[in-house]
Amino acid sequence: MQKRSPRIAVVPGDGIGVEVIAEGVRVLKHLAPDLELEHFDLGADRYLRDGVTLPDDVFMRWRDEFDAIFLGALGDPRVPSNVHAKEILLGSRFRYDLYINQRPIRLLDARKCPLKGKGPSDVDIMVFRENTEGLYTAVGGVLKKDTPDEVAQEACVVTRKGVERIIRAAFEWADANGKRRVCMSDKSNAMRNVGQLWQKVFRIVAAEYPHIEASHLYVDVLAMELVRAPERFEVIVTGNLFGDIITDLGAILQGGIGLACSGNIHPGQLGLFEPVHGSAPDIAGQGKANPMATFLTAGMMLANLGRPELEVRIIEAVRVLLLADQTTPELGGTLTTSQVTDALLEQLG
Ligand SMILES: NC(=O)c1ccc[n+]([C@@H]2O[C@H](COP(=O)([O-])OP(=O)(O)OC[C@H]3O[C@@H](n4cnc5c(N)ncnc54)[C@H](O)[C@@H]3O)[C@@H](O)[C@H]2O)c1
Repeated sequence: MQKRSPRIAVVPGDGIGVEVIAEGVRVLKHLAPDLELEHFDLGADRYLRDGVTLPDDVFMRWRDEFDAIFLGALGDPRVPSNVHAKEILLGSRFRYDLYINQRPIRLLDARKCPLKGKGPSDVDIMVFRENTEGLYTAVGGVLKKDTPDEVAQEACVVTRKGVERIIRAAFEWADANGKRRVCMSDKSNAMRNVGQLWQKVFRIVAAEYPHIEASHLYVDVLAMELVRAPERFEVIVTGNLFGDIITDLGAILQGGIGLACSGNIHPGQLGLFEPVHGSAPDIAGQGKANPMATFLTAGMMLANLGRPELEVRIIEAVRVLLLADQTTPELGGTLTTSQVTDALLEQLG
């Protein structure tokens, strides 16, 4: 029986999300014309029109019929509650149990790194952030609201299963990609209950990969070391909140938010791939949005669909463009969003 083509749900989102996803789709069509792409009208406009965020029938269709979601940024000043973003993005992460948030910190052009004397061989790290637990489960509450005695509590929810699977994912990826160092980061000196679980499970899983060096750093030390000596790191695995912060630090090490890509993954199931940046209302509609994070996101998605060679081609083409200053103004170029895509497609051949 002939294998069917991968099916991708395309959700452009809001603001520059719409602009960069359109460019990402051009690249996908160029490199993988067999992909079946279906666009979904979800985002702030739709929410303001009819109150819809992520309808149940769409949620089921994505789960049953699609291989990946290609998502632009969500966020619009007209929706101050950001409810549509929470329900589409966080809803997908939690409801599809996309427990791996995978974010590369990969410097392509040394001139874009704010660290003195560091080049691409020094900044090449894969971060595995736990994506469904920790402090992001909204477990907690508020007592005596709007009184002088108001109390707020946010629980850090961590399960052995959740910790084990993200740590294992990091080691498996390291093993499959020829990496020899995995660093786990937590705050177990201050958060003792959650920390002891991370520490214990890390030791158990690491013992199954004796050829990989397993190390540990408190997250405050990790933040310092990422700036002082990023070359120490190949693979980092950490919890939800720490991963969120550390990967944004990483985005700057690689040249800025316009170059940061991410995947939300549960191996063997539908994945959700998105550039890390927001909808940038300050530059929306002006052709200034850098689409490179979206190209790299498309590459990550293709690799996860079993086409790693296409990701390599995208990374190399983005590298060539950056070195030639063929990029948008925030990275020192003069091209518009769609001109960057034109240049990329020419480079891809
Ligand atoms: N994953 C997501 O969907 C996501 C992530 C972050 C923020 N947001 C939402 O986006 C909206 C704006 O948030 P923000 O301003 O804090 O963050 P932002 O990432 O949208 O913008 C921060 C700064 O970076 C610039 N920038 C961002 N992406 C760029 C790109 N591709 N090319 C060039 N410059 C780029 C913007 O112009 C702005 O100056 C908010 O509604 C927020 O909730 C969504």
